[in-house]
Amino acid sequence: MSGQLSGAQRKLRIGVIFGGRSGEHAVSLMSARSVLAALSAEKYEVTQIGITLDGAWWVSATHAPGDVLEALLSGDHRHLTPAALLPDPTHSGLYGFRGSVLEALVELDVIFPVLHGTFGEDGTLQGVLEMADIAYVGAGVLGSAVGMDKALFKDVMRAHSLPVLESALLLRSEIETDIESALAKAEAVAPFPLFVKPANLGSSVGVSKVRSRSDLLEGLLEAARYDRRVLVERGIPAREIEVSVLGNDHPQASLPGEIIPAEDFYSYNAKYHDDRSRLLIPAPLSPEITAQVQEIALQAYQAIDCAGMARVDFLLDKESQELYLSEVNTIPGFTSISMYAKLWEASGMSYPELVDRLIELALERKAQRDRTERRYER
Ligand SMILES: Nc1ncnc2c1ncn2[C@@H]1O[C@H](COP(=O)(O)OP(=O)(O)O)[C@@H](O)[C@H]1O
Ligand SMILES: [Mg+2]
Repeated sequence: MSGQLSGAQRKLRIGVIFGGRSGEHAVSLMSARSVLAALSAEKYEVTQIGITLDGAWWVSATHAPGDVLEALLSGDHRHLTPAALLPDPTHSGLYGFRGSVLEALVELDVIFPVLHGTFGEDGTLQGVLEMADIAYVGAGVLGSAVGMDKALFKDVMRAHSLPVLESALLLRSEIETDIESALAKAEAVAPFPLFVKPANLGSSVGVSKVRSRSDLLEGLLEAARYDRRVLVERGIPAREIEVSVLGNDHPQASLPGEIIPAEDFYSYNAKYHDDRSRLLIPAPLSPEITAQVQEIALQAYQAIDCAGMARVDFLLDKESQELYLSEVNTIPGFTSISMYAKLWEASGMSYPELVDRLIELALERKAQRDRTERRYER
């Protein structure tokens, strides 16, 4: 608990931000519905902040519960008012626009960003929150940005001798101007199949499994639509293992879970539209592999300076039984039935407890940040 609140009986003021400009806008709204339902009205005063696909920030003009989320879902913004969070910490809290005049609306103690992907999970929003000097749930700028970039993430894992699959990084400009050299670089990674993916994205958007040169060409062009950095990776017959990590300087790992995708791989369709995709909780793994997954997950989390939470995803080669880190999601799908929360539930922590804990961790991290000296005077 932060100093000025301990002892005081007032409720913590939480701003929950959802929606956003990424392709995962709709996923964010589902996660936010669960978070909003779990925030105890006895402990918290909640302000909903909805970001539209165009990037407009809205809050409720009437303060009726639920209406920002509902308005984003229905597209009817009549009861909303535009809002802003200033990067100037001497003008803290949320502001509303009255015409072109800014007016202070509400002070906030903690922001809970429930935004997946670009402009939410990638360090950009976190930069705004750092500038505003407010406590927020989840990883900071660095952990978010490195967690989001699959190529840089792998480089950091390699530097820590943590296992990742062979890969190459190609720039969109290379793919556009010298496709022969781009194809040759990609084919040098490993024999087919290869996986081609945008370096900074999620939900399997733009990801393809390619089995030939012509597939590869198509895959590179497709991935380059969504990012200027494209990752090409050795493809393996994989079991998909995920583990939830929670904490700041002393993180803990949950039991691992396993995904059985309905399709050849865990595509966008298999994730969100095919209800034959299944979660196994806990994953049927030997105690040794379970311990190894948890240990590597914690090392990866700390290597990129995560905070609050992350879901760490692995690929386990069905043939060789080798384990590889795949990616870290710093704001994983966060409904009460998402893997992240279900793994904690199986490890003994309920969803409302998890939400409370994340808010505590946000305040703890802010207190640490406040201790850092910014001025050097002798
Ligand atoms: N190298 C690989 N080998 C086998 N399957 C892979 C590989 N890379 C990705 N996949 C499959 O593609 C899915 C999406 O890839 P991933 O890197 O997790 O991207 P996203 O961030 O979009 O989830 C994975 O869940 C897995 O099913
Ligand atoms: Mg993934």
